[in-house]
Amino acid sequence: MTILHTARLRLEPFDSHHFDGLQAMNRLPEVARYLSGQPETPEQTQAAIARVQRCWAAWGTSWWAFIEYDSERLVGAGCIQYLRRDAVPPPDPMDQCSQPMEIGWRLHPDVWHRGLATEAARRMGRFAFESFPITELLAVRHVDNVASGQVMDRLGMQERGLETWYGATLATHVLSRERWQQLQP
Ligand SMILES: CC(C)(COP(=O)(O)OP(=O)(O)OC[C@H]1O[C@@H](n2cnc3c(N)ncnc32)[C@H](O)[C@@H]1OP(=O)(O)O)[C@@H](O)C(=O)NCCC(=O)NCCS
Repeated sequence: MTILHTARLRLEPFDSHHFDGLQAMNRLPEVARYLSGQPETPEQTQAAIARVQRCWAAWGTSWWAFIEYDSERLVGAGCIQYLRRDAVPPPDPMDQCSQPMEIGWRLHPDVWHRGLATEAARRMGRFAFESFPITELLAVRHVDNVASGQVMDRLGMQERGLETWYGATLATHVLSRERWQQLQP
């Protein structure tokens, strides 16, 4: 499991001690709005942490909790993981490995509009291209999720249209390895 660092954040693979911070964020309707649409219950947060830990073991990547250095508070979460077509995850995470990889993010609304999602996403994107032999990284969003689309734009991703992922029709954005390399300082 890999801990990542940015100027303002430490990205820690999900662990049971992240429960309170994840639940405080994922139970908020404004966070859930363009995800499942339903605020996450404590039981769902617990199950998500356990599933993520299985994915880290199987894939060597999954979800991180974003911990702000200044406050040591959990302010968000993000992922590099295999996409899936179906709404429900397969029982064995290895069954997802033939799918493309995606990058994803969410923040507690207290810290929106400070650039933290983009900052974490740049670091997670570097991890993805440096750790896996992928030719491209995808990101998917509800068509009305403009804020997330702007993070994708800031990463240099290009929108390629509507596709079915997670059992839904989602705007799909792509960052090729070639474009990612061109964007590196
Ligand atoms: C998607 C989401 C993470 C975007 O958050 P965000 O705060 O808008 O995105 P960033 O953290 O990259 O911040 C960018 C903003 O910070 C501003 N900013 C302030 N200080 C900054 C700094 N030091 N560096 C960069 N940007 C900074 C930018 O100008 C930009 O402003 P704007 O929002 O007025 O355009 C957030 O809306 C969210 O968590 N939504 C709920 C969950 C969700 O939908 N997740 C995505 C699913 S696809």
